Amino acid sequence: DWVMRDHIAEAVEKIREQVGDEEVILGLSGGVDSSVAAALIHRAIGDQLTCVFVDHGLLRLNEGDMVMDMFVGKLHAKVIRVDASDQFLGHLAGVSDPEAKRKIIGREFVEVFKAEAAKLTASGASTKGAKWLAQGTIYPDVIESGGAKSKKAVTIKSHHNVGGLPEQLGLKLLEPLRDLFKDEVRELGVALGLPHDMVYRHPFPGPGLGVRILGEVKKAYADLLRRADAIFIEELRSTVDPHSGKTWYELTSQAFTVFLPVKSVGVMGDGRTYDYVVALRAVQTSDFMTADWAELPYSLLKKVSGRIINEVRGINRVTYDVSSKPPATIEWE
Ligand code: XMP
Repeated sequence: DWVMRDHIAEAVEKIREQVGDEEVILGLSGGVDSSVAAALIHRAIGDQLTCVFVDHGLLRLNEGDMVMDMFVGKLHAKVIRVDASDQFLGHLAGVSDPEAKRKIIGREFVEVFKAEAAKLTASGASTKGAKWLAQGTIYPDVIESGGAKSKKAVTIKSHHNVGGLPEQLGLKLLEPLRDLFKDEVRELGVALGLPHDMVYRHPFPGPGLGVRILGEVKKAYADLLRRADAIFIEELRSTVDPHSGKTWYELTSQAFTVFLPVKSVGVMGDGRTYDYVVALRAVQTSDFMTADWAELPYSLLKKVSGRIINEVRGINRVTYDVSSKPPATIEWE
């Protein structure tokens, strides 16, 4: 619509004025905010923008490839993909405390990003070096950072909106979404040509699957979890509730699979299995401070559980989490 087109034109003009002919770096996470910021800044200054996408090995199935397809394949943006999975998993080995895991992931994220950014800011013969760090900070983040509200308020988004990072890198801060609410950011994303499904995705925590694998994180666990979670999400996206005409993905605020590193006995064919357990979690909430577990149809749960157990060898039991927040949290860690 024309209001949005006006808004884009205005935002593009503002970015061009601010940045001039200087280069910009942006940390792309695959989440809504950094994606929309990247698309907007790319619209404004094209190749003056370089995105750095750190793959910590704790992303969902095919997520890294999808981000690259979108930003490089379709938008023709410059994206440096850093595969740091081994580094992250190495540092996480033997660590099972949730907050310790969060700290390690956050710290490594900053390390890897800083190393890449340093390469881009170093002035060489052929390049002037980047002068700006762009972040997908949105209006609620600005308010939130005014005071820590919960145990995680400080940690939330700390991987991508890193306090102090611009100063450390000697970069100026570019935050084109600073005045926008989430729904405005989403509308902007769609208007910029990002796929609806990407822009209306459920939130995904910065530490990713790192907090959805209980206790010690192992690559084998992450691989099983990715496949199970992809099945759950696929079925939520394809199952329509006849009363509202909406999919169960749309009817839930956040839905995901949790890997439990415990084994239980099962039977398959004429053999006994002794495999891992996963829990499905789906909640409805307006602010994520409180949340109700979603009353998903039994037929949907049945289909998801059947598919996971049949298709993901290594998982032989699926449970559904019927705990609301409070006293449970949305994530299991
Ligand atoms: P809880 O589990 O506290 O989660 O009920 C509330 C919301 O916050 C998200 N969450 C995080 N997001 N880094 C993030 O970026 C984190 O460490 C983190 N922990 C929780 C969670 O997914 C839910 O949307």
